[in-house]
Amino acid sequence: MLESKVHRVRVRLSARDDYHIEIGPGALETLGAVARRSLSPYARRVAVISNRKVFNLMGARVMKDLRAAGFAATYWLMGDGERHKSLLTAERALDFLTKSGIERSDAVVALGGGVVGDLAGFVAAVYLRGIAYIQVPTTLLAQIDSSVGGKTAVNTDAGKNLIGAFHQPRAVVVDTETLRTLPPRELTAGWCEAIKQGAVGSRRLFEETRRFLARGTSLSRARSRNKLLEPAAASADEVVTMAKLIAAQCAFKAKIVVGDERESVERLNHRSRRILNFGHTIAHALESVTRYKRFRHGEAVGYGMLAAGEISVRLGLLGASELESLRAAVSLAGRLPRANDLDESAILTALSSDKKAVSGHVQWVLLERIGRARIVNGGEISPRIVRSSLRAALAA
Ligand SMILES: NC(=O)c1ccc[n+]([C@@H]2O[C@H](COP(=O)([O-])OP(=O)(O)OC[C@H]3O[C@@H](n4cnc5c(N)ncnc54)[C@H](O)[C@@H]3O)[C@@H](O)[C@H]2O)c1
Ligand SMILES: [Zn+2]
Repeated sequence: MLESKVHRVRVRLSARDDYHIEIGPGALETLGAVARRSLSPYARRVAVISNRKVFNLMGARVMKDLRAAGFAATYWLMGDGERHKSLLTAERALDFLTKSGIERSDAVVALGGGVVGDLAGFVAAVYLRGIAYIQVPTTLLAQIDSSVGGKTAVNTDAGKNLIGAFHQPRAVVVDTETLRTLPPRELTAGWCEAIKQGAVGSRRLFEETRRFLARGTSLSRARSRNKLLEPAAASADEVVTMAKLIAAQCAFKAKIVVGDERESVERLNHRSRRILNFGHTIAHALESVTRYKRFRHGEAVGYGMLAAGEISVRLGLLGASELESLRAAVSLAGRLPRANDLDESAILTALSSDKKAVSGHVQWVLLERIGRARIVNGGEISPRIVRSSLRAALAA
């Protein structure tokens, strides 16, 4: 791959945790070299954690590249889907690391979407009290969001992501070519999170994202169902523009993370890492009332952003035309599953049991304008406003 095609984003954490994200079409080819550069000089073994679907698509290339760089590379495949992001899977993965003789100076490579990334990162965080890992995200959501920032987790019966650790990767390798095989709904979900990042922190990023979506090309828009299994036939120009956009998204997420690495509870200003939860209060409730079956997470965030936008307008924080821009961007991301048949009261009940509450209150991330968020304590918003906002958003 041509070096000029690679975007490099530096995540400026403490000297010990500083790392780079390499982004570009074909970036996978650089994995071996990146691993050599970013891991300990004593690293000999690398354990790739992935799932069957992703490994069938690109596992052979990854293994070849790591071996060519001199690593003894092995792999372990977990089940596909959110329900496999569990303590049981983590235990099995840890067992695999032990049996493979992975030592403290060795590393894990997470190859897949956010589910694989979160699980593999968690395993790397606790194995021998923490070993190095490299993220190789292969979904849009993982490339712009979950692989950046060092949050790792598994789900339990009590809820999603409640058991986890902050553990920064040594490097992130984002190959935008991998998105060609991504199912359309996964693209829509990823684009919703991309819109979110612009909406809460940068009008420029929001506009750049919206413009790309408005082009209506194969990676920006859900492909028709009968083309589901064919790789998206994206033009070279589209791939290059997309890599630039993904790099801008990663840079944004990295900036927020660096400013508030551990999402401090006290911090409530517009630079808190918590602004990234925009749309998530409602999204979690929607996912919960539909038992995680109807929506991809990012799709639920699409509705959640509209609801939070409606609340912002009703509180007089946000102008109606700004909400219109947000609505237009979300619709460009792709069609969301129907939501106007859901029981409002059940959603409101689910809201009040949000696990991210602080001192008993839901913390709403609202908008003052596109590019600027504000955190508002739920106690300050009347239930009537929440209900009517929800209704307006779900009717969309
Ligand atoms: N750590 C964080 O900061 C953070 C942030 C946001 C989300 N998350 C977590 O991320 C997870 C969701 O991640 P996701 O949306 O990537 O879902 P996912 O990992 O389930 O991937 C979606 C689907 O796409 C498949 N897939 C992956 N790459 C592919 C490719 N290149 N081609 C074809 N198919 C491919 C997967 O096998 C899966 O079936 C959730 O568990 C969420 O909690 C974490
Ligand atoms: Zn999210």
